[in-house]
Amino acid sequence: MRKKIGLILRKAMGGDAEVSIPENEKFGHYSTNVAMKLARGKKAAPRQRGEPCPAGRGNSLELAAELAAKIEKSAPAGFFEKVEVAAPGFINLWVSKKILRDELVSIFRQKERYGRSDVGRKKKVIVEYSSVNVAKPMHVGHLRSTVIGDALANVLEFAGYKVIRWNYVGDWGTQFGKLIAAYKRWGRKSEVEKSPIGELLSLYVRFHKKEVENPIFLKEGQEEFMKLEAGDKENRKLWRWFSKESMEEFKKVYGILGVKFDVVLGESFFEPFLKPLVERLYKKKIATESEGALVVNFDKFSAKKGLPPALVQKSDESSLYLTRDIANLEYRIKKYKPSGIIYVVGNEQALHFEQLFAIAGIIRLKNTKLAHVKYGLVLGEKGKKLSTRGGEAIQLEELLRKSVGLAGKIVEQKNPKLKAREKNAIAEAVGVGAVKYNDLKENRMSDIYFDWDKMLDFSGDSAPYIQYTHARLRSILRKAHKASGIQYPSFAKASVGKQVSSLDTDIEMALIRKIAEFPETVRRSAENFFTNNIARYLYELANLANKYYESTPILTDKNVDRRNVRLMLINSVAVVIKNGLGLLGIKAPEKI
Ligand code: ARG
Repeated sequence: MRKKIGLILRKAMGGDAEVSIPENEKFGHYSTNVAMKLARGKKAAPRQRGEPCPAGRGNSLELAAELAAKIEKSAPAGFFEKVEVAAPGFINLWVSKKILRDELVSIFRQKERYGRSDVGRKKKVIVEYSSVNVAKPMHVGHLRSTVIGDALANVLEFAGYKVIRWNYVGDWGTQFGKLIAAYKRWGRKSEVEKSPIGELLSLYVRFHKKEVENPIFLKEGQEEFMKLEAGDKENRKLWRWFSKESMEEFKKVYGILGVKFDVVLGESFFEPFLKPLVERLYKKKIATESEGALVVNFDKFSAKKGLPPALVQKSDESSLYLTRDIANLEYRIKKYKPSGIIYVVGNEQALHFEQLFAIAGIIRLKNTKLAHVKYGLVLGEKGKKLSTRGGEAIQLEELLRKSVGLAGKIVEQKNPKLKAREKNAIAEAVGVGAVKYNDLKENRMSDIYFDWDKMLDFSGDSAPYIQYTHARLRSILRKAHKASGIQYPSFAKASVGKQVSSLDTDIEMALIRKIAEFPETVRRSAENFFTNNIARYLYELANLANKYYESTPILTDKNVDRRNVRLMLINSVAVVIKNGLGLLGIKAPEKI
């Protein structure tokens, strides 16, 4: 709807204008401040001597009146119910009921496709997320990356991009030398098999403690890593085994979260690319020598001045995280020719990505847009401190199971008669949904924490509340189906055109306008890589929907035509809620 209005405004004034939705309907269903913007622009223009100073306010109000008249003229007949000018220069617009009803019919007919677009024009984008490290627990930071990245990948796909979901696994680096050394000293196969990540982590921690006391250990770790890099059979075998065991464990978490990847490629894959890469950087004088190491000194490249120098090869010639990322980037561009790459990685790696992107600019990897999609910290559970250091890592699987368990208790209370299998499926959808929504509803730059009461509050700003609203709408539709035999999703075949005029109340119109905001909401999210606007949107839509069926008779409406279109309206709401939750990676069960 907002897009339609934008088009009308463009036609009226020959330029783009921003359309907003006022909090309060008395300032219009939609509103634009374009007159004020234009008046401000005019004021800045040079004046002739003696020309009176334009009075900013009066000016924009006049301009607004002029534009309002043009808008009314160029809008299709009967589009606006009212166009009003308000000080200091707003143009407020009210869309007519007829237009809103038509919009609903069109939305209803589009069903699940509603809100999809082709703004992406099938362009390829790589969305890199999760990017766990093998032989280490997947921590809550990785959880955020996984949840945010998966949602953004969904949103971009919905917006018409061809998305490649990429898990860039951390499976290389000097820490593997230490781990191998530790395993050779103290490790036992059966222990690793029993609990791979727990055991590998404790070996690593034990080694690290020793290393602080005794430099022999440090040397031993370095040597084992050199052997690994050189292709030593035994070390390779151990490393492959560690990776495999850890990936098996991560898969459990991915299974619970319901996320999938198109490409799972480790840092180790890029090892063979590094030597030639570093040589190339050196030959082209992009990297220079400094105390035996190689660095990129950004001060030499005028556009990148001020960035601290980046190390691309250590003095012992061992490779680095950054160098692997450069190789990775070149590889991706060559192989996939993506129009963009999105890295969903915590805020604390901001400098790393600034340096990576600066180097990409210097070596002219230009046609691909690069974005570091950052996010804040996880502060832990409400009232508890979270620590991932020193081995007392918070277990992700445990955390998710806790949420599912708590959800299960509520489902049991609400719906004790359901079969156990059904109850479990619902509890999983609700528990996992609660964790995801808790993250996705915030501006991702904020730190988050887990407040179980709030996350699982069936009447608050939570996934369960939205899921529950959806389930209630579905239950009304099921009952209607039982009573009349009409399958509401295929109701479009009836002569809705005429019947729809019986939708008339304020809340019905508000609900239609809200549904009509879905495409714009998705488009914005695909543009700025934030998800909180989608969450907010779904919450507001659910609020309205609840208000609607609590205040309006639907199944009991004696007027059959009106009952039918009311059912059509809530069917459309249910479809949008389900679709919107789906974008956030959250399931919408039929029953709760
Ligand atoms: N594995 C890294 C970590 O856990 C994150 C990798 C981020 N992606 C990248 N291309 N550097 O910290």
